[in-house]
Amino acid sequence: MASPDLLIVGSGLFGLTVAERAAVEHGAKVVIIDRRDHIGGNAYSEVDETTGIEIHKYGAHLFHTSNERVWDYVNRFTEFTGYVHKVYTNHKGVVYPLPINLGTINQFFGASYSPDEARALIAEQAGELAGTDPENLDEKGISLIGRPLYEAFIKNYTGKQWQTDPKDLPAGIISRLPVRYTYDNRYFNDTHEGLPAQGYTAWLERMADHPNIEVRLGTDYFDTTQEYHRDAVRGQLPVIYTGPVDRYFDYELGDLKWRTIDLETEHLESTGDFQGTSVMNYADADIPFTRIIEPRHFHPERDYPADRTVIQREYSRFAAREDEPYYPVNSGTDRETLLAYREMADAEPGTLFGGRLGTYKYLDMHMAIGSALSLVDNKLADLLRQ
Ligand code: FDA
Repeated sequence: MASPDLLIVGSGLFGLTVAERAAVEHGAKVVIIDRRDHIGGNAYSEVDETTGIEIHKYGAHLFHTSNERVWDYVNRFTEFTGYVHKVYTNHKGVVYPLPINLGTINQFFGASYSPDEARALIAEQAGELAGTDPENLDEKGISLIGRPLYEAFIKNYTGKQWQTDPKDLPAGIISRLPVRYTYDNRYFNDTHEGLPAQGYTAWLERMADHPNIEVRLGTDYFDTTQEYHRDAVRGQLPVIYTGPVDRYFDYELGDLKWRTIDLETEHLESTGDFQGTSVMNYADADIPFTRIIEPRHFHPERDYPADRTVIQREYSRFAAREDEPYYPVNSGTDRETLLAYREMADAEPGTLFGGRLGTYKYLDMHMAIGSALSLVDNKLADLLRQ
């Protein structure tokens, strides 16, 4: 492309949404660069060669939203299946439904409580620490749902996610623990939910399929040997940057901390169905992984082989600089550092920071798209004029 009007760093859902709107609404010529060798950021998926099963390369991605504008927008690029997400958890070898609901409670206590009876029981158990201010995650969990349910389903799972004993985690990590006093175990409460019928990659590629959009893969913004590197572009071309904000400023004020996950993929030829559902959590401390994903169950409508399957064991840990940053740790120090980086970002000529990494915020897909659409509404025209 001769001379683009806009450079977008990162081809995740945030970058793709801005690119698509800039090309269609503003007629802008857009170059998207991504350091990975594929489009789509963390929502990318690929087809497993031996089974034909679609695998979410960076962890399970379930689309859900109550935002009508986002729902209308994404439906321009893909149809969605009727998939409804449900999660189960294995505690001491017994499987329970999540989020904690009347089914979980009655199974756990071996009872047949009515909603009112269950509510009264949990309120009584949560009263154990009444009158005290929770000093750590353990106390917070107990004060929200009572010790028995907290210790069975939340304590060790959260401990594994954070590689830290919940007694040493701040109470503020959780503000609420939902308990449903019905048997409804639908995981999300949103109006719309489903999975892209032809897979994530087809959806993501369609967003970039416009004559005004050029995608350059395997291209890092900080690689000074490539045409559109930061130091060549800064102040010369309008930029939307969706990479990590601390990396942009060469970690000048320190690193923002993230958690990441490792996925251990296993092909099974002994069975066509390992666990009967897409996501099984493991709530106990003696199992090192947090959950097992069996991707074939994301698409029950597809004709996948009946005699083979793929599973992914998920392990959670703190991320080092070279790891994929997934979930912001968001400690007090991180928040202070972020504010200082934000000031620097605001002063950066012709560059807007967005997306999960650029704002150091966990965003679901619909939130990343919604926030990109807001940026287009409120800031893109000015940026393109610069
Ligand atoms: P995203 O990270 O997708 O894209 C950023 C892009 O920038 C990447 O492709 C990266 O390679 C590129 N980049 C970074 N630095 C660069 C550089 N220096 N030069 C060039 N390119 C660079 N959401 C949801 O709705 N339902 C779900 O079930 C899940 N599940 C889920 C699981 C896991 C494990 C994670 C980590 C996240 C989810 N999400 C999710 C969230 C979802 O992945 C998220 O909303 C989108 O990734 C956000 O898109 P972004 O474009 O902001 O970032």
